[in-house]
Amino acid sequence: MVKICCIGAGYVGGPTMAMIALKCPDIEVVVVDISKPRIAAWNSDDLPIYEPGLDDVVKSCRGKNLFFSTEVEKHVAEADIVFVSVNTPTKTRGLGAGKAADLTYWESAARMIADVSKSDKIVVEKSTVPVKTAEAIEKILTHNNKGINFQILSNPEFLAEGTAIEDLDMPDRVLIGGRMTPEGQKAVAALKAVYAHWVPEDRIITTNLWSAELSKLAANAFLAQRISSINAMSALCESTGADVNEVAFAVGKDSRIGPKFLNASVGFGGSCFQKDILNLVYICECNGLPEVANYWKQVVSINDYQKTRFVKRVVSSMFNTVSGKKIAVLGFAFKKDTGDTRETPAIDVCHGLLGDKALLSIYDPQVTEEQMKRDLAMNKFDWDHPQHLQPQSPTAFKQVSVVWDAYDACKDAHGICIITEWDEFKKLDYQKIYDNMQKPAFLFDGRNVLNVEEMRKIGFVVYSIGKPLDPWVKDLQVSI
Ligand code: NAD
Ligand code: UDX
Repeated sequence: MVKICCIGAGYVGGPTMAMIALKCPDIEVVVVDISKPRIAAWNSDDLPIYEPGLDDVVKSCRGKNLFFSTEVEKHVAEADIVFVSVNTPTKTRGLGAGKAADLTYWESAARMIADVSKSDKIVVEKSTVPVKTAEAIEKILTHNNKGINFQILSNPEFLAEGTAIEDLDMPDRVLIGGRMTPEGQKAVAALKAVYAHWVPEDRIITTNLWSAELSKLAANAFLAQRISSINAMSALCESTGADVNEVAFAVGKDSRIGPKFLNASVGFGGSCFQKDILNLVYICECNGLPEVANYWKQVVSINDYQKTRFVKRVVSSMFNTVSGKKIAVLGFAFKKDTGDTRETPAIDVCHGLLGDKALLSIYDPQVTEEQMKRDLAMNKFDWDHPQHLQPQSPTAFKQVSVVWDAYDACKDAHGICIITEWDEFKKLDYQKIYDNMQKPAFLFDGRNVLNVEEMRKIGFVVYSIGKPLDPWVKDLQVSI
């Protein structure tokens, strides 16, 4: 029986390995992590991440050919294939701070693999890493020259949160990069054989190591660029009376462009896009390509602009101040169908409103109060560096309450901000909500989930990203 060990039981390691175990009953899969609570949660009925369909997959293989353990060294030593799926956050200190990937977790995993291995191994980069990382990892793995053959492969993951199980079950492609040597190609074939249990052969792409590493950064940069492009258009739509949904539809009908990823929003979030683009920017700078670096930097700048622009619309529409006013924040996760809040636009929007002394009442169906408060207390980029956490003054928390019901959040509020596109926000009784709010009642839709005309008929003053402005909002705007 082939033995697989995956280091890192996070949003990628957990679901990816569960899918391999499900599709490959002849393979034993052990997911290991240094975090005891995380492993305990994977072994319980309450999994550490919320992902539609994940429970069923885990329950059908756990204890059979899928195991979760904190015995990291033991399982690494026993494995034939070791996936490394540890976090690779943005550096917050030192050279490249604010841009470069922090490979501390990766390096310590690689050193541990080198130390405990007694047999040949294929080591798979599952984490998203800077191009050429495999070269450094090879050096670490072979530094003590024990005569063990390590083959390093790049097999980046393209799943999106909220649809991870679907994406893993029917991936657009699986990408495997390896050395072009006979040993390298043998390792590529071994990993290909794992995926071939369920992925059609023409969807398994093999390349050299550097192409695979760079393709992951490029794919995320292209996806984020589409969002920043439509968000940039949304600002122009608001100034001209065009409707961003109509523009996106017309543009997306061109088969060369396609309709996906053209939803204007309050800004993209998530643990990947910003981190990976900043990483790309840093790599370009290090390779003497400042023009290319600046090009990609703009994708992040427009995203920051979009979040700031949203806050300015809220404050300026509400007579230029939200001080002491109750604002309901509907949604805190970075997108629907996940409880993940990493780099969620909600953090920046809340900070902006708190800065203007608003009183926030936040509701999200999947995010706990503890998580929201932790997020609001952290400095940028510190969320994945627990050692750097310096909680800010708790005074801001006096302005924040977290509730477990959207109607509760909106009761007596002056305004509502929709930040996450949860389906349930489309189905709320907005007449009831309006009746229980202060007047004029403001509605700021950061995800374009509501029918603007219907909301205006109820009586709301409405702002919806990239839609023609409510005359009221228009009259009150300061420069955005
Ligand atoms: P995560 O933070 O959810 O999980 C990483 C896990 O690795 C943590 O549980 C941590 O405790 C563990 N870990 C760190 N160092 C370790 C060590 N030395 N030994 C054992 N365990 C260790 O991160 P994630 O979201 O799963 O992302 C992992 C990687 O995959 C990142 O590089 C990310 O960019 C990439 N990625 C993420 C997504 C996504 O949607 N989240 C998608 C594609 C790629
Ligand atoms: C992304 C990539 O899609 C995935 O391939 C990669 O493996 C990891 O990064 P993820 O961050 O989980 O996945 O979610 P995604 O669906 O890409 O959404 C990212 C952000 O963009 C979210 O905040 C989402 O709301 C936003 N978004 C997405 C938009 O604002 N508009 C869109 O049209 C699409």
